[in-house]
Amino acid sequence: MKNILSMSQLSNEEIFDLINLAMDFKSGKVQSNCDNKFAMNLFFEDSTRTNTSFQVAEAKLGIKQIDFDARHSSVNKGESLYDTIKTVESMGVNLAVIRHKKDKFYEELLGKNLKIHLINAGDGTGQHPSQSLLDLMTIYERFGYFEGLKVGIIGDLKHSRVAHSDAQALTNLGAEVNFGGLNDWYSDEFKAIGPHMEVDELCQEMDIVMLLRVQHERLADDENQNFSKESYFKQFGIDMRRVEMMKADTMIMHPAPINRGVEIADDVVECGKSYIFKQMENGVYMRMAMIESLLGGKQFDNDPDQEREFVLR
Ligand code: CP
Repeated sequence: MKNILSMSQLSNEEIFDLINLAMDFKSGKVQSNCDNKFAMNLFFEDSTRTNTSFQVAEAKLGIKQIDFDARHSSVNKGESLYDTIKTVESMGVNLAVIRHKKDKFYEELLGKNLKIHLINAGDGTGQHPSQSLLDLMTIYERFGYFEGLKVGIIGDLKHSRVAHSDAQALTNLGAEVNFGGLNDWYSDEFKAIGPHMEVDELCQEMDIVMLLRVQHERLADDENQNFSKESYFKQFGIDMRRVEMMKADTMIMHPAPINRGVEIADDVVECGKSYIFKQMENGVYMRMAMIESLLGGKQFDNDPDQEREFVLR
């Protein structure tokens, strides 16, 4: 693998390999081969978790981080993304982690004369592979399998790169993916994957309830003007009444940032069923695994007995 840009490029076996390696990093079983490498995190869109998580992952791998501040870069003088990446490659940067507002920003970098490795840290409303992989790791760590798990994704599906990435990956891994939230956000892409259900029904039946933020920055002006937090929360938000409808082992997930009182009640955020902060914890190990698989040349199957545990059921 040279780059990780979309979940659609990863086979189920590659996903399991990455989960395996991330869990090995978490348990301290493997060491990095990445010292003496250089990474640059280029965030052209706001981020707290992904940016920080990649920084922590790179530091744990012994990688030297080279600062990049999109607000003060020569992109603002008209330099293209390709010329920016070619520039930092020529100085010896081995890995560029890029978040960008533009869907498929990476297409302008493919098929060009670049040796640098690329990770997509979120492109517009497109894909968010590192979030999806950390979600899969957290689910696998909890259940030990994907086949037949019932997942309900509730919220702003249409604008969510997490929904696009997770719905397809979970389906490919054998989970049953269902959807909830405003009907307007249940687009054809999701109709082809699974049914739309009432939130109460999802809470009663799902093994995993995955919540999404309403992405006001991507809504049209009239959608924002007509939006009422109170009525959204009443219809689609998860409060303790809905948590009590869930099965004993149901997981509540959210990629965050969360909007308390909109899609999730204050007291649900850290309740016993919530894996929101576990997702963030696991994100560091998954990002270590992604970087190591690109830069470190680590073989996944370092322990054939261990590998057997990750064979698809
Ligand atoms: N989950 C996620 O991508 O969060 P950030 O936007 O803070 O990186």
